[in-house]
Formats: sequence, structure tokens, C-alpha cells
Amino acid sequence: MKGIILAGGTATRLFPLTVTTSKQLLPVYDRQMIFYPLNNLIKAGIKNILIIVSPEHSGQFLNLLGSIFEKYGIYLEFKVQKVPKGLADAFVIGESFIDNNNVAMILGDNIFEDNFYEAVKNFKGGGKIFAKQVKDPKRFGMVEFDKDRKVVSIEEKPALPKSNYAVTGVYVYDNRVVDVAKSLKPSDRGEVEVTDINNWYLKQGELEVAKVEGEWLDAGTFDSLLEAGNIVKDKGLYKNFDPLIDKAIEEYNIELKRLAKKKLK
Ligand code: G1P
Repeated sequence: MKGIILAGGTATRLFPLTVTTSKQLLPVYDRQMIFYPLNNLIKAGIKNILIIVSPEHSGQFLNLLGSIFEKYGIYLEFKVQKVPKGLADAFVIGESFIDNNNVAMILGDNIFEDNFYEAVKNFKGGGKIFAKQVKDPKRFGMVEFDKDRKVVSIEEKPALPKSNYAVTGVYVYDNRVVDVAKSLKPSDRGEVEVTDINNWYLKQGELEVAKVEGEWLDAGTFDSLLEAGNIVKDKGLYKNFDPLIDKAIEEYNIELKRLAKKKLK
């Protein structure tokens, strides 16, 4: 299983914060947001991870993450998404990286308390997505169930939502996802939609919808960013990191302080 973190986009809703850096490099309590999706993939046992970034701030991702994980056997690659074309584009950009493997994708601004280790370990094929009840269903891809609670469709930002189960920003697919993504036409909002990928797997009878049990936060607005930081602190989510991430950050800090001292001399 390979992993992708989609960390592109211009995040205009967070201007002027995102004029000087990427949304996914903004702080959520004591570390940059990107460490959260990284943690989810690393905890799921994934060792090869592609981070898709926007051109403006690509160097900052490399500065922060470029070499701090390699000695722990975690290999990061970076690719630039020149124009934000939609979530499904990640599988087109990632084609050569994915090669003939399965792939788990996670959105760079999603924070999950859940551990996806079992989901990844037990993945046999098809598509697997993770849903959670929300209060604002018009903002998300929504799961539609029939009267027997069988999933009948996934609707992207429906005007009349048929349930309150939103599709969260973590997706596991078999290798066919690359061809499916390449075949998609942009939606009315001009994006290739991950929802169309999910509906393709659903049509094959191969889409599994699991529940997210713990916290799920996205940090795309000022309020949700602040709230994410507060929840992370108050609920102690910052203690959920794989020890190797904490170790890598600590070593990076020591190195930065050493270099800063040198410069002072
Ligand atoms: C995207 C997806 C949507 C999903 C959401 C999760 O929405 O299109 O299906 O529910 O991520 O965060 P967007 O961030 O493009 O509004």
C-alpha cells in the first residue's frame, strides 16, 4: 500500500495566512497541520508516501520534511500540482508513484483521531471510504442509504442531503483507481471529483463504507483552524503521534537550534 497526502490548493478562504505559506503548513497547536495526515499514514504502516503540493510553497514542504524521516524507513516523495483540479487528480499526478500498488489517500487538512492500521491491513481490493455524521451536510460528499441501510449513492455537496453521513478525507483504493481517475470529466464546479471515483466503485459493487469513530476535523476556515487547535490541545490528540514522528521533530529542532547558535557566533 502506498500513501498520498494531497496538500495542494490555494486556500483562498484563509487569506492572508495562506499568502505566505500553505494551509497544510499552518500550525495546529504545537506542529504543522501536515503532520496529522502523515501520522495517520505512518500509523497505518505505510512507508512510501507522496506529498502533492502547490508550486508557491513547495520549497517549504521540502525544508520541513525533506530528510527527517528517511532514517526511520519512511520515504517521502514530492510532486507539484500546478493547478488545483480536484481531489481525483491526485491519482493522475501520482500514477508513476502508485505504480502497480494499492493506495491510501488522505487530505492534507484533515485531522483524524482514528487509527487506520486495521483498515489498511485488511484491505483486499475495491474502494474503502470512511463516513462520519455531520451537522452541515451540504458542505461534503454525502452517503445516501436505502431503507435497509445499504449505500445507494454518494452525492457531492447535495442541495437536499439524504443522510447526515459525510465522506471524510481518507480513501483506500485498489490500483484501478488510476485509470478511473484518468477517465473522469470535470464536474460543474470544474473539478475531477473523488465522489465520481467512489460512485464508480459502488457501481461495481466494490465500495465499502466504514465509520469514523473518533474526532474528525478539517481546518479550512479561520474558525475550524482555531477549533482544531483547541480540540487537539484539550483532548490531548497531540499525544497520539507515532513515536518516530515525535523523535524526528525533536531531532530536527535540535539541529535547527544548533545551526542558529552557529550563526550567532
Ligand atoms: C472534498 C470532497 C468531499 C469530501 C470532503 C472531505 O470536499 O469533494 O466529497 O466530503 O472533501 O473533507 P472539498 O474539500 O473539495 O470541498
